[in-house]
Amino acid sequence: MAMAKKKKTSPKRKTSSTAKSSAAKTGSAKKSTAKKSSGAARAKPATTIRPTTNILRVGIDLGTSRSAVSANNGKREWVESYVGWPKDFIAEKVLGEPILFGRAALENRLSLDLYRPLEQGVIKESTRNEEAVRELIAHMLDLAEVRESQRVYAVVGVPSESLRANKMAIKRAAQDFVHSLMVVSEPFSAAYGMQVLNNAIIIDMGAGTVDFCIMHGSMPKDDDQRTIVTAGDYIDQQLFNLMKEKYPESDFNMNMVRQYKERFSFVGKPKGKVEVEVPVGGRIMVHDITDEMRRACESVVPGIVENTMELIARFDPEYQAIVRENILLCGGGSQIHGLAKVIEEALQEDGPCSVTVMEDPIFAGSDGALALAQDMPEKYWQDLMVEE
Ligand SMILES: Nc1ncnc2c1ncn2[C@@H]1O[C@H](COP(=O)(O)OP(=O)(O)O)[C@@H](O)[C@H]1O
Ligand SMILES: [Mg+2]
Repeated sequence: MAMAKKKKTSPKRKTSSTAKSSAAKTGSAKKSTAKKSSGAARAKPATTIRPTTNILRVGIDLGTSRSAVSANNGKREWVESYVGWPKDFIAEKVLGEPILFGRAALENRLSLDLYRPLEQGVIKESTRNEEAVRELIAHMLDLAEVRESQRVYAVVGVPSESLRANKMAIKRAAQDFVHSLMVVSEPFSAAYGMQVLNNAIIIDMGAGTVDFCIMHGSMPKDDDQRTIVTAGDYIDQQLFNLMKEKYPESDFNMNMVRQYKERFSFVGKPKGKVEVEVPVGGRIMVHDITDEMRRACESVVPGIVENTMELIARFDPEYQAIVRENILLCGGGSQIHGLAKVIEEALQEDGPCSVTVMEDPIFAGSDGALALAQDMPEKYWQDLMVEE
């Protein structure tokens, strides 16, 4: 039986007590802000800015499938965005934990009520899913090793659609653990981390969604961003269906299919045959899935090309040529072999263009969010203080 990985601490308790006790130890920073003070006894100017030495700045990328955290204490961690609670007290006894995250949750899913709370880029509607987001944020801060005495200034990047639909829910989920909080869209935080702030298009291909964001020299607004759902999970479903059609007798599940994709994904010309070992009636057989893999991966290309073309057209005509040379692809899906080239070729029908894949698909979002957390002047953070 697969055992849950032993966690160092209970994230919920530790992290929430971390935030609370750090507030207590620093004389409750939150209470000393302008919003809270009233009356003559508290005549101290509300804009007093505390020394920055005891502040931990963190960038969190809260993704549909993976969440990552980068902190200015040098910690950088990621976890698959799964949260699971033991189904009953027997399960809790077996697992030895009140809650599991990431791979440990996935591996023990039969004993758990398992949640992947941001499917299709928004928090699925239920109290339990909101709670799962809260626990996930607490866990990310735990992984960042927030110390008791530290105040946490966090920038959280979320899928664009989630920013539109769930901003308040995300704030609620984070407010017990941080002192100051900014929620931004994930493609924007990735762009910020790359210092790509003007005349560019960012395409963030995740699991639940492909998020597009245009950068034109200021903070992107709602209509600078758009989201489509033909992303990584969609490819998994296509590949599953195509494989079922070709090999109806074989035993495989979505998890296996996702692993095949992550190993062999490609569009355009294959590097070689894609062969996988799949059980058929208890015996392992080798299946050739080259064509299925290509078709599944290529199924997302038209949506990306079409939306990118529409977004290019939104720029002032004078700048469109520059924008066409400044298209960046990030997120887990950017690792599909040949994807940038195929998108580039399709867009080149209208003129020269260049699509670049960002390095480090795992930490681009959280590193960018951290860069934002580090660069943002103190007076902005004062406005973002979390109410108690
Ligand atoms: N090598 C790969 N080839 C194709 N897809 C991949 C690869 N590695 C990861 N992915 C896919 O990328 C998606 C996750 O990307 P990520 O940016 O972490 O998503 P999110 O931000 O939605 O959590 C998943 O669908 C995953 O299967
Ligand atoms: Mg992402």
